[in-house]
Amino acid sequence: MSSYVTRKTPGDTVWFKHDRFGMFIHWGLYAMPARHEWVKYQETMLDEKYDKYFKYFNPDMYDPREWARQAKAAGMKYVVLTAKHHEGFCMWDTQYTDYKCTNTPAGRDLVREYVDAFRAEGLKIGFYYSLLDWHHPDFTVDPCHPRWLDPDAQELNVGRDMTVYAQYMRDQVRELLTNYGKIDILWFDFSYTQDKRGPEWQRGKGKDDWEAEKLLALARELQPGIIIDNRTEIEQDLWTPEQYQPTEWVRHEETGELVTWEACQTFSGSWGYYRDETTWKSPEMLIRMLINTVSTGGNLLMNVGPTSRGYLDARAEKSLKVFADWMKYNSRSIYGCTMAEPEILKCLPADCRFTQSEDGKRLYVHLFAYPFGHLYLKGLAGKVDYAQFLHDGSELLYNEGGTQHIHEGVTKDEDLLVINLPPVKPDVIVPVIELFLK
Ligand code: GLC
Repeated sequence: MSSYVTRKTPGDTVWFKHDRFGMFIHWGLYAMPARHEWVKYQETMLDEKYDKYFKYFNPDMYDPREWARQAKAAGMKYVVLTAKHHEGFCMWDTQYTDYKCTNTPAGRDLVREYVDAFRAEGLKIGFYYSLLDWHHPDFTVDPCHPRWLDPDAQELNVGRDMTVYAQYMRDQVRELLTNYGKIDILWFDFSYTQDKRGPEWQRGKGKDDWEAEKLLALARELQPGIIIDNRTEIEQDLWTPEQYQPTEWVRHEETGELVTWEACQTFSGSWGYYRDETTWKSPEMLIRMLINTVSTGGNLLMNVGPTSRGYLDARAEKSLKVFADWMKYNSRSIYGCTMAEPEILKCLPADCRFTQSEDGKRLYVHLFAYPFGHLYLKGLAGKVDYAQFLHDGSELLYNEGGTQHIHEGVTKDEDLLVINLPPVKPDVIVPVIELFLK
């Protein structure tokens, strides 16, 4: 068994740490302006202007079964959809606001179809729920609100009552966790008490504003075992580094314990569909991100931003296909794997990443740069029972003790394991060597 023990949390993270790879979906009205999900804020849009999107939102090509098929093919095992993002628009038929998809030309409960489709493909189901709300009349204007720089911003806050909003959130979370069967993940976003950009009366918000304790208790009562992130500002199950890749296992800020973590990443620079954004990640970068994540004990939640018509555009499909092609042959180095044991990690050659199966029996060497002829693994001699390429299960011959390659000036090295590699890199973005350990 892996010797790494993570900090105990209230939810059931066993399946989560096994599955390693999920799909994030950012979808809402912001898919229409198609220039970032924060567009209302960035362009300080008034409600009247944003209402146009509500009026014309018509995802006539929405077919979540197609999304689910692609997610499954990519090797993703769970999914998290923005039920409500900061704009406040609800993607389900909530009874607590009219600002919902059923009142747009979409005319149906989009969350319901999503849940059914992904569940049918065997993926675990998650909801993202924004703690911010740029539409709710009781959410006070603060530095993360589109109206914060308005000359009359302070007046706008008169009569707004965050306790009403906190109750609204509980009502909605109750709906989401009651009406859609078993929900595996609840992804709240986000707290910003540290935000001091505004004047004194515009402070950032956090757990007290959300009445987070009550909100979390409700979620736990309705869906025991559910995994919840830490972004309400009260620690739960999940640390969620965003748009950067930790280079080591994430640790608890105070105790230093290892924690359950999930990096979330975009294919390009935005979460919501962004038509003119061009910083799409290369295939190599995508696969490396997944490997890097698992090699340091984490999960990867990879985001798609569907178009307002409800399909995944060609760039997103292509990126998913990159994962599908690689995972089809190499997923064994991802599922049920984690950071290699400390004494094994000492043997890590340059330009490689290890992952190791939870039971410790299999070690995976991911070749980020394909070496010529041989891979030298110092310290692994005597430990390996069999070696093969993972993608095609073809044997890789090896020598131990350095006897094969002794030339002038090279001394015999008892610890050295030398794997013979074909001169040409196999046609796999990142080839993986599977080592069965003794
Ligand atoms: C940020 C952004 C948001 C996005 C989220 C994903 O908090 O506000 O737009 O949904 O990150 O992690």
